[in-house]
Amino acid sequence: MTTLDPAKLEATVKRVYDMLGGAVIAGMIHLGDRLGLYRALAAAGVVTSADLATRTGLHERWVREWLRGQAAAGLVDYAGDGRFALSAEAVHVLADESSPFFAAGGFDGLPAQMAVLERLPEAFRTGLGLPYDAFGADGTRAVERMLAPWFRTMLVPLALPALDGVVAKLAAGARVADVGCGTGVAVIEMAKAFPRSSFGGYEISRHALARAAENRAAAGIANVTFHDAARDPLPADASCDLITTFDCLHDMAHPATVIRAIRQAIKPDGTWLIGDVKSKPTFEENVRDNPMAAMMYGFSVLSCMSSALSEPNGAGLGTLGLTEELARTMTREAGFTRFRRLDIEHPMNAYYEVRP
Ligand SMILES: C[S@@+](CC[C@H](N)C(=O)[O-])C[C@H]1O[C@@H](n2cnc3c(N)ncnc32)[C@H](O)[C@@H]1O
Repeated sequence: MTTLDPAKLEATVKRVYDMLGGAVIAGMIHLGDRLGLYRALAAAGVVTSADLATRTGLHERWVREWLRGQAAAGLVDYAGDGRFALSAEAVHVLADESSPFFAAGGFDGLPAQMAVLERLPEAFRTGLGLPYDAFGADGTRAVERMLAPWFRTMLVPLALPALDGVVAKLAAGARVADVGCGTGVAVIEMAKAFPRSSFGGYEISRHALARAAENRAAAGIANVTFHDAARDPLPADASCDLITTFDCLHDMAHPATVIRAIRQAIKPDGTWLIGDVKSKPTFEENVRDNPMAAMMYGFSVLSCMSSALSEPNGAGLGTLGLTEELARTMTREAGFTRFRRLDIEHPMNAYYEVRP
């Protein structure tokens, strides 16, 4: 019989229970965001559970248990005498949706993400994953809330100026396509900033397209159209000055086909901005250098690789599958000749300027 190392056994048990703790606390963050508890805490300052229950219209006993768990997890500060508060930093991360540090939106989709665990054993057996729409409208909204803070605060002021000559073209009036546009936040932000340009969002998820239409209506702008890419694909007429793809190439079942379509749609002097998950060429490097690697491989199984395998012969790149080297190769094979990594810092993504 194998002799067990007691210290290693204890460490393994602790690590596994830490994971269960993380999963349960993640569920509590979801509730705090969904029930407005973080926003109410941010507005209230130092409060008792009774104060917070009154402010949110919730039952005090439930709020008290939630607050105690949050304080035990180090997310909410305990001020003594049954009083709790959010630190200024926690307000940014958990309550203020306009902050670039806002992260609670990433917990919005937790129930939908965990619900697919019921369907994934079948995917492991057949090899066929679940399309994006398997997460329903809730999943679509969750992706939006996770990614929107960057689009709202960084895309126009930081990323577009990093591209050679693009801002001047957009200001004068250009044609732009955002492929895999999701719920359209990125393309709407660009359209608001550049009213002389016309923007098209291309997407295959019906839930994302429905929400994109709502977002456009809420923004009250007329220079954006959304297209169901399966029926109304990118025009193959070299007419686009700028094409963008954000966090979607690694999710696509057939990214090489989409990249070829982008090559046909772009003007000879056009620009393609790729924002996609930063990853290293080897598994060993990802594990060594990326503290979020374990979570990302998990998201890949839950969502990214799954959607990338949701059609027969899917590429299945997955969350960490589009390395810079692969992006260079795939774009070169589609006929692009210039590829430049942009100097834009982001905890998860890398940005590339690609040109014919
Ligand atoms: C992680 S989401 C990102 C959405 C959006 N770009 C954003 O950043 O919020 C990836 C999106 O790619 C879309 N997608 C996948 N394959 C596609 C294809 N062939 N054409 C257009 N969109 C596609 C999915 O439906 C999904 O909405």
